[in-house]
Amino acid sequence: MSGNFERVVILSGAGISAESGLGTFRDKDGLWTKYDLNDVATPEGFARNKPLVHAFYNARRKGLLKAAPNAAHAAIAQLETQFKGDVLVITQNVDDLHERAGSRNLIHMHGELLRALCALCGESRPWVEDLSEHLSCPSCGKTGYMRPDVVWFGEMPYRMDEIYDRLAACDLFVSIGTSGTVYPAAGFVAEARAHGAQTVELNLEPSEGVTLFQRRHHGPATKIVPEYVSELLDL
Ligand code: OAD
Repeated sequence: MSGNFERVVILSGAGISAESGLGTFRDKDGLWTKYDLNDVATPEGFARNKPLVHAFYNARRKGLLKAAPNAAHAAIAQLETQFKGDVLVITQNVDDLHERAGSRNLIHMHGELLRALCALCGESRPWVEDLSEHLSCPSCGKTGYMRPDVVWFGEMPYRMDEIYDRLAACDLFVSIGTSGTVYPAAGFVAEARAHGAQTVELNLEPSEGVTLFQRRHHGPATKIVPEYVSELLDL
C-alpha cells in the first residue's frame, strides 16, 4: 500500500496520549469536565487569575514529565523513518510524546507545555520548572508576564500558513485521537479532502466529523495505530 501515497499528513489529538496516562479534554473524566476552559485556557482567564492558570499547567507539566510515549507514538515515528514518502505530524497536543518517540517532522499547532512565553516581549524558551506570577522574564526582565507557551481559545494556532499548504499538497490525511470539535483543526479533514487526499480516521469512537473520512478504524490508539502503520508500510 505504501506505493500509493507520497505525502502523508497526520493530525493527532489528546486520544493518542490517553494510554500514556495523560487526560483527554472531552471524554468522561476529561479535563473540561473538571475545569472551565474559560478559566484556564483563555487570555481573559489568565488576566483574571494567574495563580489558578499556573497551578493548572504546572500540574499538567509534572504529569507529562512522568509520562512516556506509547505504541501509537512509536508507530508514527516508525512511519516517518521507514515510509518512502513524506510524513508530517500536526499535533494539537502540548505534550512532547511524539518527539520523545522519535518524530522529527512535527508541528505543535497548539504550542508546547515544556516551553514558556513572555506575554510582554514574546520570547519563547524551553521550560520544565513550575511557572508563577512572581517570575521575571529572562529576556526583558519584567515580572508577572511569564506564561506557558500554549495556544489558548481566542488565540491563533501556530504555523497555520504552512499547515494549509501541507494539507493542500497531501495525498493521505490521517486523523488520530481527536474529537474533531475544535477549529481550525476540526476543518483540516475537509480541506485535505477538497484537495483530493484520502482521509482516514483512527479514534476510539466516531468523531464529530466522521462522515468526512473515507476509512475509519475505531479502537484504542495503541492497537489501531500500529496496525494501520504496518499496513501502510506493507509489513
Ligand atoms: P478531545 O478530548 O476533545 O478528544 C479526544 C478524542 O480521543 C475523543 O474523540 C476520544 O474518543 C478519543 N480517545 C480517547 N481515548 C483514546 C484512545 N485510547 N485511543 C484513541 N482515541 C482515544 O481532545 P482533542 O480532540 O485533542 O485545545 O481536543 C482538541 C483541543 O481541545 C485540544 O488541543 C485543546 C482542547 O481544548 C486547547 O486547549 C486550545
